[in-house]
Amino acid sequence: MAAPSRLLIRGGRVVNDDSSQVADVLVEDGVVRALGRDLLPPGGAPAGLRVLDAAGKLVLPGGIDTHTHMQFPFMGSRSVDDFHQGTKAALAGGTTMIIDFAIPHKGHSLVEAFETWRSWADSKVCCDYSLHVAVTWWSDQVKEEMKILTQEKGVNSFKMFMAYKDLYMLRDVELYTVFSWCKEIGAIAQVHAENGDLIAEGAKKMLALGITGPEGHELCRPEAVEAEATLRAITIASAVNCPLYVVHVMSKSAARVIADARRDGKVVYGEPIAAGLGTDGTHYWNRDWHHAAHHVMGPPLRPDPSTPDFLLNLLANDDLTTTGSDHCTFNTCQKALGKDDFTKIPNGVNGVEDRMSVIWEKAVHSGKMDENRFVAVTSTNAAKIFNLYPRKGRIAVGSDADIVIWDPKATRTISAKTHHQAVNFNIFEGMVCHGVPLVTISRGRVVYEAGVFTVTAGHGKFIPRKPFADYIYKRIKQRDETCAPTPVEREPYKGEVVTLKSRGTEDDSTAGTSKQAHH
Ligand code: URP
Ligand code: ZN
Ligand code: ZN
Repeated sequence: MAAPSRLLIRGGRVVNDDSSQVADVLVEDGVVRALGRDLLPPGGAPAGLRVLDAAGKLVLPGGIDTHTHMQFPFMGSRSVDDFHQGTKAALAGGTTMIIDFAIPHKGHSLVEAFETWRSWADSKVCCDYSLHVAVTWWSDQVKEEMKILTQEKGVNSFKMFMAYKDLYMLRDVELYTVFSWCKEIGAIAQVHAENGDLIAEGAKKMLALGITGPEGHELCRPEAVEAEATLRAITIASAVNCPLYVVHVMSKSAARVIADARRDGKVVYGEPIAAGLGTDGTHYWNRDWHHAAHHVMGPPLRPDPSTPDFLLNLLANDDLTTTGSDHCTFNTCQKALGKDDFTKIPNGVNGVEDRMSVIWEKAVHSGKMDENRFVAVTSTNAAKIFNLYPRKGRIAVGSDADIVIWDPKATRTISAKTHHQAVNFNIFEGMVCHGVPLVTISRGRVVYEAGVFTVTAGHGKFIPRKPFADYIYKRIKQRDETCAPTPVEREPYKGEVVTLKSRGTEDDSTAGTSKQAHH
Protein backbone atom coordinates (compact mmCIF):
# COMPACT_ATOMS: atom_id res chain seq x y z
CA MET A 1 0.00 0.00 0.00
CA ALA A 2 1.33 3.47 -0.92
CA ALA A 3 2.26 5.72 2.00
CA PRO A 4 -0.36 8.43 2.63
CA SER A 5 0.52 11.54 0.66
CA ARG A 6 -0.77 13.83 3.41
CA LEU A 7 0.58 14.14 6.92
CA LEU A 8 -0.62 16.04 9.93
CA ILE A 9 2.02 16.58 12.59
CA ARG A 10 -0.10 17.29 15.62
CA GLY A 11 0.46 19.36 18.73
CA GLY A 12 4.24 19.73 18.64
CA ARG A 13 6.29 22.80 19.39
CA VAL A 14 7.31 24.10 15.95
CA VAL A 15 10.75 25.68 16.16
CA ASN A 16 12.19 28.08 13.60
CA ASP A 17 15.34 30.16 13.95
CA ASP A 18 13.38 33.22 15.08
CA SER A 19 10.49 31.83 17.14
CA SER A 20 8.70 28.77 18.47
CA GLN A 21 4.97 28.02 18.67
CA VAL A 22 2.77 25.06 19.51
CA ALA A 23 1.02 24.25 16.24
CA ASP A 24 -0.11 21.52 13.89
CA VAL A 25 1.70 21.19 10.57
CA LEU A 26 -0.23 19.95 7.53
CA VAL A 27 1.94 18.45 4.79
CA GLU A 28 0.72 17.76 1.24
CA ASP A 29 2.60 16.92 -1.94
CA GLY A 30 5.96 17.34 -0.26
CA VAL A 31 5.43 20.85 1.09
CA VAL A 32 3.96 22.48 4.18
CA ARG A 33 0.38 23.47 3.33
CA ALA A 34 -0.83 24.85 6.64
CA LEU A 35 0.49 25.72 10.06
CA GLY A 36 -1.82 26.50 12.98
CA ARG A 37 -3.89 25.27 15.89
CA ASP A 38 -6.35 22.40 15.60
CA LEU A 39 -5.95 21.58 11.92
CA LEU A 40 -7.46 18.10 12.39
CA PRO A 41 -11.03 18.19 11.05
CA PRO A 42 -13.79 17.28 13.53
CA GLY A 43 -14.51 13.59 13.17
CA GLY A 44 -10.89 12.61 12.82
CA ALA A 45 -8.44 11.99 10.02
CA PRO A 46 -9.96 11.47 6.57
CA ALA A 47 -8.62 8.65 4.37
CA GLY A 48 -5.18 9.38 3.03
CA LEU A 49 -4.19 11.61 5.95
CA ARG A 50 -1.72 10.18 8.44
CA VAL A 51 -1.61 11.86 11.85
CA LEU A 52 1.68 11.94 13.73
CA ASP A 53 1.34 12.84 17.38
CA ALA A 54 4.08 15.32 18.35
CA ALA A 55 2.68 16.47 21.72
CA GLY A 56 5.51 17.26 24.10
CA LYS A 57 8.03 17.06 21.26
CA LEU A 58 9.80 19.59 19.07
CA VAL A 59 9.09 19.89 15.36
CA LEU A 60 12.28 21.16 13.69
CA PRO A 61 13.38 21.99 10.14
CA GLY A 62 15.49 19.05 8.99
CA GLY A 63 19.20 19.56 9.41
CA ILE A 64 21.35 20.75 6.52
CA ASP A 65 24.86 19.30 6.64
CA THR A 66 26.95 21.83 4.74
CA HIS A 67 29.98 19.60 4.32
CA THR A 68 30.17 15.91 3.39
CA HIS A 69 32.39 13.70 1.23
CA MET A 70 30.44 10.55 0.29
CA GLN A 71 32.37 7.90 -1.71
CA PHE A 72 35.19 10.42 -2.16
CA PRO A 73 38.28 9.09 -4.00
CA PHE A 74 41.01 10.53 -1.80
CA MET A 75 44.56 9.76 -0.70
CA GLY A 76 44.67 6.44 -2.54
CA SER A 77 41.35 5.24 -1.11
CA ARG A 78 37.64 5.98 -1.34
CA SER A 79 35.51 7.00 1.63
CA VAL A 80 33.29 4.08 2.64
CA ASP A 81 30.01 5.86 3.22
CA ASP A 82 28.56 6.21 -0.26
CA PHE A 83 25.64 8.43 -1.24
CA HIS A 84 23.18 5.69 -0.23
CA GLN A 85 24.49 4.64 3.16
CA GLY A 86 25.69 8.14 4.01
CA THR A 87 22.34 9.82 3.32
CA LYS A 88 20.43 7.10 5.17
CA ALA A 89 22.65 7.74 8.17
CA ALA A 90 21.96 11.46 7.76
CA LEU A 91 18.18 10.84 7.95
CA ALA A 92 18.59 8.69 11.05
CA GLY A 93 20.27 11.65 12.72
CA GLY A 94 17.68 14.24 11.67
CA THR A 95 19.55 15.67 8.68
CA THR A 96 17.43 15.99 5.53
CA MET A 97 19.89 17.64 3.18
CA ILE A 98 23.62 17.37 2.58
CA ILE A 99 25.92 19.51 0.48
CA ASP A 100 28.78 17.40 -0.86
CA PHE A 101 31.85 18.45 -2.87
CA ALA A 102 32.74 17.66 -6.49
CA ILE A 103 36.54 17.85 -6.52
CA PRO A 104 38.42 17.70 -9.85
CA HIS A 105 42.16 17.10 -10.02
CA LYS A 106 44.38 19.89 -11.31
CA GLY A 107 44.04 20.19 -15.08
CA HIS A 108 40.65 18.45 -15.11
CA SER A 109 37.24 19.82 -16.02
CA LEU A 110 35.05 21.21 -13.23
CA VAL A 111 31.86 20.49 -15.17
CA GLU A 112 32.93 16.88 -15.74
CA ALA A 113 33.67 16.49 -12.03
CA PHE A 114 30.25 17.92 -11.23
CA GLU A 115 28.56 15.49 -13.64
CA THR A 116 30.57 12.58 -12.23
CA TRP A 117 29.48 13.34 -8.68
CA ARG A 118 25.87 13.69 -9.86
CA SER A 119 26.06 10.32 -11.59
CA TRP A 120 27.27 8.77 -8.34
CA ALA A 121 24.65 10.49 -6.22
CA ASP A 122 21.39 10.76 -8.17
CA SER A 123 20.37 7.11 -8.09
CA LYS A 124 21.56 6.57 -4.52
CA VAL A 125 20.60 9.53 -2.36
CA CYS A 126 17.91 9.06 0.29
CA CYS A 127 17.76 12.76 1.19
CA ASP A 128 18.04 15.91 -0.91
CA TYR A 129 21.51 17.08 -1.79
CA SER A 130 23.47 19.78 -3.53
CA LEU A 131 27.09 20.14 -4.62
CA HIS A 132 29.85 22.63 -3.95
CA VAL A 133 32.61 22.42 -6.58
CA ALA A 134 36.33 22.73 -5.83
CA VAL A 135 38.62 24.97 -7.88
CA THR A 136 42.03 23.28 -7.79
CA TRP A 137 43.70 25.09 -10.70
CA TRP A 138 43.15 28.19 -12.79
CA SER A 139 42.81 28.79 -16.53
CA ASP A 140 40.37 30.34 -19.00
CA GLN A 141 38.62 26.97 -19.11
CA VAL A 142 38.13 26.99 -15.33
CA LYS A 143 36.81 30.53 -15.52
CA GLU A 144 34.27 29.57 -18.19
CA GLU A 145 33.24 26.41 -16.35
CA MET A 146 32.63 28.26 -13.09
CA LYS A 147 30.23 30.47 -15.04
CA ILE A 148 28.47 27.48 -16.58
CA LEU A 149 28.17 25.86 -13.16
CA THR A 150 26.58 28.93 -11.59
CA GLN A 151 24.31 29.83 -14.50
CA GLU A 152 23.24 26.39 -15.70
CA LYS A 153 24.04 23.73 -13.12
CA GLY A 154 22.84 25.11 -9.79
CA VAL A 155 26.20 25.65 -8.08
CA ASN A 156 26.80 28.86 -6.10
CA SER A 157 29.75 27.89 -3.91
CA PHE A 158 33.33 26.98 -4.80
CA LYS A 159 35.92 25.52 -2.42
CA MET A 160 39.58 26.43 -2.67
CA PHE A 161 42.29 24.51 -0.86
CA MET A 162 45.19 26.34 0.75
CA ALA A 163 46.58 22.93 1.80
CA TYR A 164 47.27 19.61 0.04
CA LYS A 165 50.30 21.04 -1.74
CA ASP A 166 50.75 19.77 -5.32
CA LEU A 167 47.34 18.06 -5.20
CA TYR A 168 44.67 20.69 -4.70
CA MET A 169 46.45 23.75 -3.28
CA LEU A 170 46.15 27.20 -4.86
CA ARG A 171 48.69 30.02 -4.39
CA ASP A 172 47.70 33.49 -3.17
CA VAL A 173 47.59 35.06 -6.62
CA GLU A 174 45.31 32.25 -7.80
CA LEU A 175 43.07 32.74 -4.78
CA TYR A 176 42.92 36.43 -5.64
CA THR A 177 41.83 35.63 -9.18
CA VAL A 178 39.29 32.96 -8.19
CA PHE A 179 37.79 35.09 -5.41
CA SER A 180 37.44 38.01 -7.86
CA TRP A 181 35.63 35.75 -10.30
CA CYS A 182 33.37 34.25 -7.61
CA LYS A 183 32.23 37.79 -6.84
CA GLU A 184 31.52 38.52 -10.52
CA ILE A 185 29.37 35.41 -10.95
CA GLY A 186 27.58 35.70 -7.59
CA ALA A 187 29.10 32.69 -5.85
CA ILE A 188 30.50 32.38 -2.36
CA ALA A 189 34.19 31.42 -2.04
CA GLN A 190 34.95 28.67 0.44
CA VAL A 191 38.41 27.91 1.79
CA HIS A 192 40.15 25.01 3.42
CA ALA A 193 42.43 27.30 5.42
CA GLU A 194 45.79 25.76 6.24
CA ASN A 195 49.25 26.75 5.04
CA GLY A 196 50.18 23.87 2.71
CA ASP A 197 53.88 24.81 2.47
CA LEU A 198 54.30 24.82 6.24
CA ILE A 199 52.50 21.47 6.51
CA ALA A 200 54.82 19.90 3.92
CA GLU A 201 57.93 21.17 5.74
CA GLY A 202 56.52 20.25 9.17
CA ALA A 203 55.73 16.71 8.01
CA LYS A 204 59.32 16.19 6.79
CA LYS A 205 60.59 17.46 10.13
CA MET A 206 58.38 15.10 12.18
CA LEU A 207 59.31 12.07 10.09
CA ALA A 208 63.01 12.98 10.43
CA LEU A 209 62.50 13.03 14.21
CA GLY A 210 61.12 9.50 14.01
CA ILE A 211 57.54 10.62 14.68
CA THR A 212 55.57 8.41 12.27
CA GLY A 213 52.31 7.99 14.24
CA PRO A 214 49.07 10.04 14.13
CA GLU A 215 50.38 12.58 16.68
CA GLY A 216 52.75 13.72 13.90
CA HIS A 217 49.68 14.80 11.91
CA GLU A 218 48.82 17.48 14.50
CA LEU A 219 52.41 18.36 15.36
CA CYS A 220 53.24 19.24 11.75
CA ARG A 221 50.21 21.53 11.40
CA PRO A 222 49.61 23.31 14.72
CA GLU A 223 46.94 25.96 15.25
CA ALA A 224 49.02 28.82 13.85
CA VAL A 225 49.14 27.06 10.48
CA GLU A 226 45.33 27.21 10.35
CA ALA A 227 45.02 30.73 11.81
CA GLU A 228 47.59 32.20 9.40
CA ALA A 229 45.80 30.79 6.35
CA THR A 230 42.43 31.92 7.71
CA LEU A 231 43.65 35.50 8.05
CA ARG A 232 45.30 35.35 4.61
CA ALA A 233 42.09 34.12 2.97
CA ILE A 234 40.04 36.82 4.69
CA THR A 235 42.55 39.49 3.63
CA ILE A 236 42.46 38.36 0.00
CA ALA A 237 38.65 38.02 -0.09
CA SER A 238 38.23 41.42 1.49
CA ALA A 239 40.62 42.99 -1.04
CA VAL A 240 38.25 41.97 -3.83
CA ASN A 241 35.00 42.33 -1.83
CA CYS A 242 34.15 38.63 -2.18
CA PRO A 243 32.05 36.85 0.45
CA LEU A 244 34.04 34.12 2.16
CA TYR A 245 33.06 30.92 3.95
CA VAL A 246 35.74 29.14 5.98
CA VAL A 247 35.01 25.41 6.09
CA HIS A 248 35.91 23.17 9.02
CA VAL A 249 37.10 25.75 11.56
CA MET A 250 38.99 23.56 14.00
CA SER A 251 41.03 25.79 16.31
CA LYS A 252 40.48 28.56 18.82
CA SER A 253 42.97 30.80 17.02
CA ALA A 254 41.32 30.41 13.58
CA ALA A 255 37.89 31.00 15.14
CA ARG A 256 39.20 34.17 16.81
CA VAL A 257 40.48 35.42 13.46
CA ILE A 258 36.99 34.95 11.97
CA ALA A 259 35.27 36.58 14.94
CA ASP A 260 37.60 39.60 14.72
CA ALA A 261 37.03 39.90 10.97
CA ARG A 262 33.25 39.80 11.40
CA ARG A 263 33.51 42.56 14.00
CA ASP A 264 35.59 44.48 11.48
CA GLY A 265 32.64 44.24 9.10
CA LYS A 266 34.01 41.58 6.76
CA VAL A 267 31.50 39.33 4.97
CA VAL A 268 32.91 36.07 6.28
CA TYR A 269 31.29 32.98 7.77
CA GLY A 270 32.86 30.18 9.81
CA GLU A 271 31.73 26.55 9.81
CA PRO A 272 32.81 24.41 12.74
CA ILE A 273 32.07 20.70 12.38
CA ALA A 274 30.58 18.06 14.64
CA ALA A 275 34.01 16.50 15.28
CA GLY A 276 35.54 19.78 16.46
CA LEU A 277 32.52 20.57 18.65
CA GLY A 278 32.20 17.10 20.13
CA THR A 279 35.71 15.81 20.71
CA ASP A 280 39.35 16.92 20.65
CA GLY A 281 42.84 16.11 19.43
CA THR A 282 44.14 14.44 22.59
CA HIS A 283 43.13 11.20 20.83
CA TYR A 284 46.16 11.52 18.53
CA TRP A 285 48.28 10.57 21.53
CA ASN A 286 46.21 7.45 22.28
CA ARG A 287 48.51 4.42 22.56
CA ASP A 288 46.20 2.37 20.34
CA TRP A 289 47.29 3.24 16.77
CA HIS A 290 43.93 2.50 15.17
CA HIS A 291 42.07 4.69 17.67
CA ALA A 292 44.42 7.59 17.03
CA ALA A 293 44.37 7.13 13.24
CA HIS A 294 40.57 7.23 13.12
CA HIS A 295 40.73 10.84 14.37
CA VAL A 296 43.09 12.00 11.60
CA MET A 297 41.54 14.76 9.52
CA GLY A 298 42.66 18.11 8.20
CA PRO A 299 42.80 20.60 9.80
CA PRO A 300 43.34 18.35 12.81
CA LEU A 301 41.33 18.19 15.98
CA ARG A 302 43.18 20.29 18.53
CA PRO A 303 44.89 18.86 21.61
CA ASP A 304 43.75 21.84 23.71
CA PRO A 305 40.73 20.25 25.45
CA SER A 306 38.99 23.62 25.91
CA THR A 307 38.63 23.95 22.12
CA PRO A 308 35.12 22.40 21.71
CA ASP A 309 33.58 24.66 24.36
CA PHE A 310 35.30 27.70 22.89
CA LEU A 311 33.96 26.93 19.39
CA LEU A 312 30.48 26.25 20.80
CA ASN A 313 30.46 29.62 22.57
CA LEU A 314 31.39 31.39 19.34
CA LEU A 315 28.73 29.44 17.48
CA ALA A 316 26.16 30.48 20.08
CA ASN A 317 27.20 34.14 19.65
CA ASP A 318 27.10 34.20 15.84
CA ASP A 319 30.87 34.60 15.59
CA LEU A 320 30.60 31.24 13.82
CA THR A 321 27.52 30.64 11.71
CA THR A 322 26.80 27.14 10.38
CA THR A 323 27.74 23.55 11.13
CA GLY A 324 28.77 20.67 8.89
CA SER A 325 30.28 17.31 9.58
CA ASP A 326 33.04 16.97 6.95
CA HIS A 327 31.84 13.36 6.94
CA CYS A 328 34.60 11.48 5.10
CA THR A 329 34.97 8.01 6.51
CA PHE A 330 37.63 5.36 6.08
CA ASN A 331 37.71 1.92 7.65
CA THR A 332 40.63 0.85 9.79
CA CYS A 333 42.21 -1.14 6.95
CA GLN A 334 42.17 2.03 4.81
CA LYS A 335 43.57 4.21 7.59
CA ALA A 336 46.31 1.55 7.84
CA LEU A 337 47.76 2.78 4.54
CA GLY A 338 49.59 5.15 6.88
CA LYS A 339 50.57 2.70 9.60
CA ASP A 340 54.26 3.61 9.25
CA ASP A 341 53.85 7.19 8.04
CA PHE A 342 51.10 9.52 9.28
CA THR A 343 51.14 11.51 6.02
CA LYS A 344 49.63 8.49 4.26
CA ILE A 345 46.64 8.05 6.61
CA PRO A 346 43.54 9.01 4.57
CA ASN A 347 42.18 12.18 6.17
CA GLY A 348 38.60 12.18 7.41
CA VAL A 349 36.19 11.43 10.25
CA ASN A 350 32.48 10.64 10.70
CA GLY A 351 29.73 13.08 11.70
CA VAL A 352 26.76 13.08 9.31
CA GLU A 353 24.59 10.91 11.59
CA ASP A 354 25.55 12.42 14.92
CA ARG A 355 25.98 16.15 14.15
CA MET A 356 22.49 17.15 15.33
CA SER A 357 22.57 15.13 18.56
CA VAL A 358 26.13 16.15 19.44
CA ILE A 359 25.27 19.84 18.99
CA TRP A 360 22.03 19.48 20.94
CA GLU A 361 23.88 17.84 23.81
CA LYS A 362 26.88 20.17 23.87
CA ALA A 363 25.09 23.40 23.04
CA VAL A 364 21.40 23.21 23.99
CA HIS A 365 21.36 20.72 26.84
CA SER A 366 24.36 22.55 28.33
CA GLY A 367 22.52 25.90 28.15
CA LYS A 368 24.80 27.66 25.65
CA MET A 369 22.08 27.93 22.98
CA ASP A 370 18.30 27.89 22.89
CA GLU A 371 16.27 25.74 20.50
CA ASN A 372 16.00 28.59 17.98
CA ARG A 373 19.74 29.10 17.76
CA PHE A 374 20.09 25.34 17.37
CA VAL A 375 17.84 25.49 14.30
CA ALA A 376 19.81 28.47 12.99
CA VAL A 377 23.20 26.74 13.19
CA THR A 378 22.07 23.29 12.06
CA SER A 379 19.79 24.37 9.22
CA THR A 380 18.53 27.91 8.61
CA ASN A 381 21.83 29.79 8.32
CA ALA A 382 23.10 27.27 5.78
CA ALA A 383 19.87 27.65 3.79
CA LYS A 384 20.31 31.43 3.76
CA ILE A 385 24.00 31.46 2.82
CA PHE A 386 23.64 28.84 0.08
CA ASN A 387 20.40 30.38 -1.27
CA LEU A 388 18.01 27.59 -0.34
CA TYR A 389 15.88 29.67 2.02
CA PRO A 390 12.93 29.55 2.72
CA ARG A 391 12.44 26.41 0.64
CA LYS A 392 14.81 24.73 3.10
CA GLY A 393 15.72 25.72 6.65
CA ARG A 394 12.24 26.78 7.74
CA ILE A 395 8.88 25.30 8.64
CA ALA A 396 6.45 27.65 6.92
CA VAL A 397 3.62 27.40 4.42
CA GLY A 398 5.20 26.66 1.03
CA SER A 399 8.49 25.31 2.40
CA ASP A 400 9.66 21.80 1.58
CA ALA A 401 8.38 19.43 4.24
CA ASP A 402 11.84 18.44 5.52
CA ILE A 403 10.95 18.01 9.16
CA VAL A 404 12.18 16.19 12.25
CA ILE A 405 10.12 15.29 15.28
CA TRP A 406 12.71 15.67 17.99
CA ASP A 407 12.61 14.46 21.55
CA PRO A 408 14.76 16.86 23.59
CA LYS A 409 14.51 14.76 26.75
CA ALA A 410 15.30 11.29 25.38
CA THR A 411 18.91 10.17 25.27
CA ARG A 412 20.90 7.85 23.06
CA THR A 413 24.41 6.50 23.31
CA ILE A 414 26.50 6.82 20.18
CA SER A 415 28.31 3.68 19.06
CA ALA A 416 29.79 2.16 15.92
CA LYS A 417 27.90 -1.01 16.91
CA THR A 418 24.53 0.67 16.40
CA HIS A 419 25.16 3.54 14.00
CA HIS A 420 23.86 3.44 10.42
CA GLN A 421 27.12 4.49 8.78
CA ALA A 422 29.27 2.02 6.84
CA VAL A 423 32.46 2.96 8.67
CA ASN A 424 33.68 0.62 11.42
CA PHE A 425 34.59 3.33 13.97
CA ASN A 426 32.82 6.28 15.55
CA ILE A 427 34.80 9.20 17.00
CA PHE A 428 31.90 9.89 19.41
CA GLU A 429 31.83 6.31 20.75
CA GLY A 430 30.12 6.15 24.13
CA MET A 431 28.87 9.75 24.13
CA VAL A 432 25.41 10.01 25.70
CA CYS A 433 23.35 12.67 23.93
CA HIS A 434 20.06 14.23 24.82
CA GLY A 435 18.09 15.09 21.71
CA VAL A 436 16.84 12.14 19.66
CA PRO A 437 15.17 12.26 16.24
CA LEU A 438 11.99 10.18 16.52
CA VAL A 439 10.61 10.72 13.02
CA THR A 440 12.36 12.18 9.98
CA ILE A 441 10.30 13.49 7.07
CA SER A 442 11.92 14.24 3.74
CA ARG A 443 9.89 16.23 1.18
CA GLY A 444 6.67 15.15 2.82
CA ARG A 445 7.45 11.46 3.27
CA VAL A 446 8.19 9.69 6.52
CA VAL A 447 11.59 8.20 5.76
CA TYR A 448 12.73 7.17 9.23
CA GLU A 449 10.64 6.34 12.26
CA ALA A 450 11.48 4.66 15.55
CA GLY A 451 14.69 3.23 14.18
CA VAL A 452 13.17 1.94 10.92
CA PHE A 453 13.89 3.32 7.44
CA THR A 454 11.06 3.64 4.94
CA VAL A 455 13.07 5.14 2.12
CA THR A 456 14.58 3.83 -1.08
CA ALA A 457 17.69 4.89 -2.95
CA GLY A 458 16.99 7.79 -5.27
CA HIS A 459 14.22 9.33 -3.13
CA GLY A 460 16.46 12.37 -2.60
CA LYS A 461 16.78 15.00 -5.29
CA PHE A 462 19.53 17.31 -6.47
CA ILE A 463 18.62 20.83 -5.34
CA PRO A 464 20.01 23.55 -7.62
CA ARG A 465 21.09 26.81 -6.01
CA LYS A 466 20.94 30.20 -7.71
CA PRO A 467 23.80 32.72 -7.55
CA PHE A 468 23.69 36.11 -5.80
CA ALA A 469 22.02 34.95 -2.58
CA ASP A 470 20.42 38.06 -1.11
CA TYR A 471 21.55 37.11 2.37
CA ILE A 472 25.19 37.67 1.43
CA TYR A 473 25.12 39.69 -1.77
CA LYS A 474 23.03 42.70 -0.71
CA ARG A 475 25.98 43.98 1.32
CA ILE A 476 28.53 43.02 -1.31
CA LYS A 477 26.69 44.90 -4.09
CA GLN A 478 26.17 47.97 -1.94
CA ARG A 479 29.86 48.05 -1.03
CA ASP A 480 30.79 47.80 -4.70
CA GLU A 481 28.63 50.84 -5.37
CA THR A 482 29.62 53.00 -2.46
CA CYS A 483 33.03 51.85 -1.25
CA ALA A 484 35.06 51.77 -4.49
CA PRO A 485 38.26 53.79 -4.01
CA THR A 486 38.46 57.01 -6.03
CA PRO A 487 41.54 58.99 -7.05
CA VAL A 488 42.40 62.32 -5.37
CA GLU A 489 41.96 65.18 -7.82
CA ARG A 490 45.12 67.30 -7.84
CA GLU A 491 47.22 69.55 -10.05
CA PRO A 492 49.99 67.67 -11.94
CA TYR A 493 53.44 67.83 -10.35
CA LYS A 494 55.64 70.25 -12.27
CA GLY A 495 58.92 70.19 -10.30
CA GLU A 496 62.21 68.33 -10.72
CA VAL A 497 62.49 64.58 -11.40
CA VAL A 498 65.76 62.65 -11.20
CA THR A 499 67.03 60.93 -14.34
CA LEU A 500 67.39 57.15 -14.10
CA LYS A 501 70.14 55.08 -15.68
CA SER A 502 69.06 52.19 -17.87
CA ARG A 503 69.24 49.73 -14.93
CA GLY A 504 66.76 51.82 -13.05
CA THR A 505 69.26 53.37 -10.58
CA GLU A 506 69.71 57.09 -10.14
CA ASP A 507 72.24 58.79 -12.41
CA ASP A 508 74.61 60.46 -9.82
CA SER A 509 75.84 63.09 -12.25
CA THR A 510 72.38 64.42 -12.85
CA ALA A 511 70.74 63.75 -9.47
CA GLY A 512 69.09 66.88 -8.24
CA THR A 513 70.01 68.87 -11.34
CA SER A 514 67.87 67.59 -14.19
CA LYS A 515 64.64 69.23 -15.07
CA GLN A 516 61.87 67.54 -16.97
CA ALA A 517 58.61 68.89 -18.13
CA HIS A 518 55.49 66.96 -17.06
CA HIS A 519 52.31 67.00 -19.00
O1 URP B 1 40.29 15.53 6.52
C1 URP B 1 39.42 15.96 5.79
N1 URP B 1 38.90 17.12 6.08
N2 URP B 1 39.02 15.24 4.73
C2 URP B 1 38.19 15.65 3.70
C3 URP B 1 38.84 16.61 2.75
C4 URP B 1 38.76 18.03 3.23
O2 URP B 1 39.76 18.69 3.31
O3 URP B 1 37.68 18.51 3.54
ZN1 ZN C 1 38.95 20.64 3.58
ZN1 ZN D 1 35.89 18.34 3.76
